[in-house]
Amino acid sequence: MNIIDGKAISASLKEALKEQVAGFPEQYGRVPHLVVIRVGEDPASVVYVRNKAKACEACGIRNTTLVFPESIPEEDLIAVIGNLNADPDVDGILVQLPLPEHIGEARVIETIAREKDVDGFHPYNVAGLWQKTPHMAPCTPKGIMKLLEAAGVDPKGKRAVVIGRSNIVGLPVAKMLLDANATVTLCHTRTVDLPSVTRQAEILVVAAGRAKMMGVDMVSPGCVVIDVGMDRDPLTGKLCGDVDFDAVAPIAGAITPVPGGVGPMTIACLMENTVECFLERMSTAADERLQTEE
Ligand code: GUN
Repeated sequence: MNIIDGKAISASLKEALKEQVAGFPEQYGRVPHLVVIRVGEDPASVVYVRNKAKACEACGIRNTTLVFPESIPEEDLIAVIGNLNADPDVDGILVQLPLPEHIGEARVIETIAREKDVDGFHPYNVAGLWQKTPHMAPCTPKGIMKLLEAAGVDPKGKRAVVIGRSNIVGLPVAKMLLDANATVTLCHTRTVDLPSVTRQAEILVVAAGRAKMMGVDMVSPGCVVIDVGMDRDPLTGKLCGDVDFDAVAPIAGAITPVPGGVGPMTIACLMENTVECFLERMSTAADERLQTEE
């Protein structure tokens, strides 16, 4: 059984970032600063935001977590983001999703300064991915591509099937697989005869948001299975993915577990994006200083 150990791969990525960040105070006078905003008390968001703070600590990145009540008006949240955009000591801004219904997610995301958008959700960054222009890549799809690479799986020439068409995972990961020269089929839980489509896959990315929806009847032997699900088993209440791991793992070429697969990679890539935003801002600041000296 070939289990792709996302926890170990993310740990080595964070270790490398920690070493890199350790040199920043001498080089730049400070370390990167990530601000994470949580609105309300959604239990999953509470855990995710806490894990992001822990990862910052592990990498030596400064973290500020701002928590607002569920009732915060949209304009107040937008004003907070405006202040963070203008703050020279803030390098990355992340608003944990989902937001309460009275707040327009798209308006909030658009407000985040493009150069501080560590999530890669800003329309300019999304466009950059699709147009192959410079952009911040979204963390989960980026993490999935790193998992494949670490497992020695080159997407080139392979048939990849992605289940799920969200802006956060399905759409961007399909584009990244396409850019890595896979032939990509993008489908969803309502795709007619889904098993006949998924059985064609040599790489299967499952981001359907349904506990254990992917059974052994939907996977061909040798397929590399990436499980993006983060669900609760309705019978045991235990954390599980979209894939029935115990059934699929024995026939899969390689498979990610839940927890310990994609999840830790998302956070490691968030740390990487924060460092990238910091370095980009440092180099812009240096350019501006040069121009005023000239
Ligand atoms: N909610 C679920 N995944 C994500 C993510 O990657 N970023 C943010 N901001 N919210 C999320």
